[in-house]
Order: sequence, then C-alpha cells, then structure tokens
Amino acid sequence: MDLNELRESGHQMFRRDLLQNKVIVITGGGTGLGRAVGERYLQLGAKLAIASRREEVLQTAAQEMTKDGGEVFYKTCDVRDPIQVAELFDAIYAHYGKVDILVNNAAGNFISPTERLSVRAVDAILNIVLHGTFYATLELGKRWIDQKQSGTMLNIVTNYASSGAGSGFVVPSAVAKAGVLSLTRSLAVEWAKYGIRQVAIAPGMFPTEGAWSRLVPSAQIGERLMNRVPLHRTGTMSELANLAAFLVSDEAGYINGEVVTIDGGEWLQGAGEFNELSTLNPEDWDQLSAMMRKK
Ligand code: HXC
Ligand code: NAP
Repeated sequence: MDLNELRESGHQMFRRDLLQNKVIVITGGGTGLGRAVGERYLQLGAKLAIASRREEVLQTAAQEMTKDGGEVFYKTCDVRDPIQVAELFDAIYAHYGKVDILVNNAAGNFISPTERLSVRAVDAILNIVLHGTFYATLELGKRWIDQKQSGTMLNIVTNYASSGAGSGFVVPSAVAKAGVLSLTRSLAVEWAKYGIRQVAIAPGMFPTEGAWSRLVPSAQIGERLMNRVPLHRTGTMSELANLAAFLVSDEAGYINGEVVTIDGGEWLQGAGEFNELSTLNPEDWDQLSAMMRKK
C-alpha cells in the first residue's frame, strides 16, 4: 500500500475545505489505515492529534505528514489504560482547545486456533479493541456533553463484524469488533440528543504492515483470502481514506449509527449458496446447460 498514491489521488472528489479547522483525534494514527486516513484529513484542512503506544512511530509519522504543511499533535497513549486516555484528551484540549471528531482505529489482532489462546492472549485483543474504544468514547463523550459541544465518532471495525457472521481463527477480534459495532449503534440513539453522531467503517482486506504481519503470514494464506473477494483485489488506502473523510464530514450529517462495509463484496461471497459457481468457466457452463436442458 502506497501513501504516494494516496497523496496524489482521490482528494479532488472533495472540497479542499471539507474538514477546515476540524480537530480530529485518531488512535493508532501513526501507522497503516489510521495514518492514511489522517493524511487525507490533513489535505482537507483538518488539524490532527494522533496517539498510540510507540513514541518514535508517532514522531516520525507527524514529521512526514506535515512536510507540506498542516498540524499534527502527537502523544503516547495506551488505550487500555483509562488514565492515559484521560491524559490524552487533557493534552489535546490544552493544545487545540477543542476536539470535533474521534476516530477509534487502534486495534490488535492475530490468527490462531481459539483453543490455543491463553486468557492473556484473549485479553490482549479485547482490552485494545473493545475496552480501548469504549474508554476513548466515554472520556470524550463526557467532555462533549459537559461542554454542550456536538461531534462525530468514527469506529473502524471489520467486515466480519458488519456481516454479523464473526470469524473463526480471529475470535477475540470478532467478538471485540462486534461489541464496538454495538457501541456505535447504541450511542447513535442515546447520544443523538447531544448532537453526537456515531458511524463505523468495516474494511475487508487492506494490506498494511501491522495487519499482514499478523494475519497473512504466508503467500498461500494471502492467495486463499484474495480468492474470496469478488473484485479479486485488495482495497487501496485512498479508497478507505475517502470514505472516512466523507463519513466524518458535515455533508454526512444525517448518517448516524450506520456501518459502511468496504470489502470488494467479500462478505457476500460466503452468503449466497451458489456463489461458489463463479469458479466455473464458459465450457463448464455449456456442459451444465446442456445437461439441464436434456431433462
Ligand atoms: C497466540 C499470541 C500471539 C499469537 C501474542 N499472543 N501473539 N498467542 N498467537 N500470534 C499472546 C502472548 O503469548 C501473550 O499471552 C498475550 O498474547 C499477550 O501478548 P503480548 O505480546 O504481551 O501483548 P501486547 O504487547 O499487548 O501486544 C498485543 C498484540 C500485538 C495484539 C499481541 O500483536 C500488537 O501489539 N498488535 C497491535 C497491532 C495489530 O495487531 N495490528 C493489526 C490490526 S489488523 P501469554 O499467555 O503467553 O502471556 C485488524 C484487521 C482485521 O484488526 C481484518 C483483516 C482482514
Ligand atoms: P496497524 O497499522 O497495526 O494499526 C493498529 C494501530 O493501533 C497501530 O498504530 C498501533 O500503534 C495502535 N495500537 C495498538 N494497540 C494500541 C494500544 N494499546 N493503545 C494505543 N494504540 C494501540 O493495522 P491497520 O491494518 O492499519 O489497522 C487499523 C484499523 O483497521 C484497526 O482497527 C483494524 O482492526 C482495522 N482493520 C484493518 C484491516 C486491514 O485489512 N488492514 C481490515 C479490517 C479492519 P502502537 O503499536 O504504536 O500502539
């Protein structure tokens, strides 16, 4: 996945001031999809705050992201720790004076047969994805409600959460992301009266170093996964970033509690009983058609 491609394409579909002066917090914003989304937000006039555990990653990302201008504030924060989450928002409010949008993007995941997981391994994922997202949402939501400030929260889930199917071999992630989707929909109703909007994106396959090193450790697994995608390709950073820009913008102001799946049709592949027939070639179909018409 190429950040140059992201920088050179795509943002033209938006007004350059779409996110002008919006202060946007992205957890896990120093790497992968979080960084790509942040780059697009900057191009559209936003001011960013990125947070994760590794300071050197955040520092490098902030430097690279601002080489053509814009502002990226960064602070280390382990979202599993509610005290660090509160300190993060204290620091962002001290720096920018406000927050308009939160992107809950930080996550952990790896493939494993579930019976091989230790309790600590389960907690490692649930604590980042479910608890971390809840802590950030709660901390900022309380501040917005106290200040009578409206805002938008975007949660990054996965297509196995939005389909409702879950997935074997990434069960802690499936369970946690389903919980985050429930949080999205529950608060879409409960906090709407405060002007707080909730949206989610459910990506399919977007090759990032973080995800691929833990989920696609061999070319063979990659090939198998790719065969599940009707469009037969992975998603691009630009495609995901554009969706993330639209959903948090004021232009999407009537979208509340919705999750948008962006996966090339992958989740539907397993849903239709006859979808497997897409592997047949025209000769196979000639033969089958002749057999059926005989009867
Ligand atoms: C089995 C594992 C394991 C593995 C770790 N553990 N990796 N068990 N298989 N591959 C176990 C450890 O043995 C330990 O249990 C427990 O998990 C905690 O491990 P730590 O290394 O101490 O955890 P921690 O330092 O908190 O790191 C969390 C992490 C790590 C999730 C394990 O991978 C991480 O930091 N990930 C962050 C980034 C990330 O995962 N990005 C991908 C997101 S992609 P014991 O009992 O031995 O102590 C994504 C996309 C989904 O979500 C869809 C894609 C198509
Ligand atoms: P990634 O680069 O590994 O991103 C995960 C980020 O979360 C990292 O920046 C990491 O930074 C941060 N993080 C992890 N644990 C944290 C903690 N305890 N506290 C704070 N930050 C923490 O992977 P990615 O592929 O871009 O994933 C981004 C999001 O997209 C995730 O929500 C993931 O579930 C979702 N997603 C990705 C795909 C895909 O195909 N790539 C598909 C579906 C969904 P530190 O290590 O510095 O903390």
